[in-house]
Amino acid sequence: MKIEVIPSKNPVKAELLVVGVWNTGTEKKKSAKIDSFHKKGLVTLLNLDSFEAGLGKTREVTTADGQRALLVGLGNSKELTPEKFRRSIARVFKSIKADQVSSLEVDLKSFSAKLKEATTFDIFVEAFLLANYSFDKYKSVKKESKLKKVEFRTVKLTKAQAAKKIEKIESITSSMNFTRDLVNEAPNVLHSEKYAQIVEKDVKTTLKGKGVKIKVLNKADIKKEKMNLFLSVNAGSYYEPRLVHLTYTPKKVTSKTKHIALVGKGVTFDTGGYSLKPPGSMVGMKFDMGGSATVYGAFRAAVLLGSPYKITCVLAITDNMVDAKGNVPDSIITGRNGKTVEILNTDAEGRLCLADALDYTCDLKPNVIIDAATLTGACLVAFGKEVCAVLGNDKSLVKSLYKSAENVDEYIWELPIIQEYRDQIKSNIADIKNIGAPARAGTAIGAVFLENFIKNDIAWAHLDIAGVCDSQDHLPYCPAKGGSGLMVRTLTDYLTR
Ligand code: BES
Ligand code: MG
Ligand code: ZN
Repeated sequence: MKIEVIPSKNPVKAELLVVGVWNTGTEKKKSAKIDSFHKKGLVTLLNLDSFEAGLGKTREVTTADGQRALLVGLGNSKELTPEKFRRSIARVFKSIKADQVSSLEVDLKSFSAKLKEATTFDIFVEAFLLANYSFDKYKSVKKESKLKKVEFRTVKLTKAQAAKKIEKIESITSSMNFTRDLVNEAPNVLHSEKYAQIVEKDVKTTLKGKGVKIKVLNKADIKKEKMNLFLSVNAGSYYEPRLVHLTYTPKKVTSKTKHIALVGKGVTFDTGGYSLKPPGSMVGMKFDMGGSATVYGAFRAAVLLGSPYKITCVLAITDNMVDAKGNVPDSIITGRNGKTVEILNTDAEGRLCLADALDYTCDLKPNVIIDAATLTGACLVAFGKEVCAVLGNDKSLVKSLYKSAENVDEYIWELPIIQEYRDQIKSNIADIKNIGAPARAGTAIGAVFLENFIKNDIAWAHLDIAGVCDSQDHLPYCPAKGGSGLMVRTLTDYLTR
């Protein structure tokens, strides 16, 4: 799908012209700030009595000179927010795509009564590129999209300015789509060894020449690192674990350059291990590597955007399987930092992988660590599919993440870390245990467990993406089922701001 802007004088060549129409209030009054170029053919049509121009309503018309045009209702301009606009445009895009239209011309001015034309353009392009995603590699008959060209008519942007904007937006949307692909891939295909190879290949192609180094630790390396908690999760696996360690160094770097580290849970499939999940809860657990896919997506976007910060990204990858050699409940394992952990539930495995990965990352002495994980079912109980949980040890870091989420219209909400929760995971026989009381503050318990593996006073925040990672059927720019790519935009904003 090629996206371009066209200078105002060229004749309309597209199959479908798309025009925004506002409902200006009380008596179904409509108005359009259409480009003067389109005015002649459209003004009479815009007064269609039966078209209310409510947000999300559309009406197809034919202009006097035979041009197909889609009127897109935008509601009252006072009520429109960037997110309402993004969702609305994504819905319109899907219906246009389903209609098998091959080319579009968008009258940009008509959509920008409230937001500037440049901002309107950004949201439009973002919504189109995100809504255009599909995961159809396993469909023998693929639904080929006919939509090949989208042109925006505007006098506010030159072709070159638009091309620059599109490149920026694509850095983010292509990375979100990369995350979605990883989350959607089948677990029999995306095992740990394969996952590390896919990341390595992407680094060597997409991120080539951009200051990124990659190191992939295999089982022997991970043993040398004494990452016994991580290894215990992998104990029942046919595949070796992988710890992928990525480093980005910006072009301008000094000893004062801020160093941000991302750490992601990469459980390619979570059976629960010997604390086996019931069948109904096991389906969908291919998404349990979503934290690692999310932090990699954000790392990738930040590199493509030329972030000014030094960025480390650590992915802890394994599956959680049942086998004669598998980890059993009651085991006591010593983590990389020397703390002993009583494993009372092998299904609380994400925190075991992250524990050693966090300790490893602390040794790199970053200023900030942010981890992301599909860590707890309890997060879904607390927040549903809509909100990502954040917990951490540094108020200003959490505040900064709130700001980033707000900038890109994603939802995060903080949960507390309190002494009482810390006390809950004290073990009778070891330093700590890997679960708290059943059905009590599970998301925060996960976080206080992780807190044990943060050292050197590093500012740390944990994102529990169990809800937002997949199946966002309320968001038209995300697939109704499968990987969402959410939180990539929040993290990218944080990494580039
Ligand atoms: N990957 C799951 C978390 C999860 C469960 C995400 C359901 C989304 C939906 C994690 O490894 C897990 O199994 N957590 C347990 C922890 C419990 C044993 C303390 C959970 O949430 O049930
Ligand atoms: Mg589990
Ligand atoms: Zn898990």
